[in-house]
Amino acid sequence: MQVDYKEIIMDKQKVIRNAEDFAKERMKNYDSGHDWWHIERVRKTAACINSEEHLADPFLLDLAAILHDAADFKFLKTEPEKAYASMTELLNENGLKAESKTLTEAIKNVSFSNKKRTGNLNDPVLLILQDADRLDAIGAMGVARAFNYGGFRNNAIYIPPDETGILAPSTIGHFYEKLLKLKDLMNTSTGKRMAEDRHAFLERFLYQFYSEWDPQSGKEFIY
Ligand code: ADP
Ligand code: NI
Repeated sequence: MQVDYKEIIMDKQKVIRNAEDFAKERMKNYDSGHDWWHIERVRKTAACINSEEHLADPFLLDLAAILHDAADFKFLKTEPEKAYASMTELLNENGLKAESKTLTEAIKNVSFSNKKRTGNLNDPVLLILQDADRLDAIGAMGVARAFNYGGFRNNAIYIPPDETGILAPSTIGHFYEKLLKLKDLMNTSTGKRMAEDRHAFLERFLYQFYSEWDPQSGKEFIY
């Protein structure tokens, strides 16, 4: 039997378009730090990491990147399990029955807030996609997204610590709770390398922030 490679390529493009439509529909009510451009950046960053590491199937990695935030429980009105089930259904309908379970599992495992991790934790799609998603939470993009999310939730920009030294919830607080930790959580060596520069930018931003917050007392660092 002759394999029609042109048809396979066409098919893949169609699957990608179907996944894009599905994710766009799901994400239309999310805040703009989580909008379609976040997906496009994560797709590019994931492809960039994979071009160095050659660990994952590029098509499956791109699909996972497109779908990775389509079942975010913070924004969905429905149960996350239902959202994941419809994602699996979409993949099955698009001829990916063999891959749909592992792909959905990898997407579930990407989230920082997901504590119940199951399945193959060494799946290259998971490792690369998680790095790409984390990279978009640090650097200049991370600063922009954090303040965008904080504004969306009406959170304080910053609340100075009280006498006990405890930092009240704020967007600057989120830097210490999550963003400054991401550099050490990278999975791939390319991800680690890319995180260095973006982490340094977060530190520079905080340094400048505190120096402007109180020019007299100077640049006190909390971390
Ligand atoms: P994940 O999907 O990995 O769990 P999130 O959905 O929690 O990530 O985060 C999405 C974006 O919103 C990130 O850029 C993150 O830094 C930002 N974000 C999440 N929670 C907060 C918060 N409390 N304050 C500021 N930014 C936040
Ligand atoms: Ni994401």
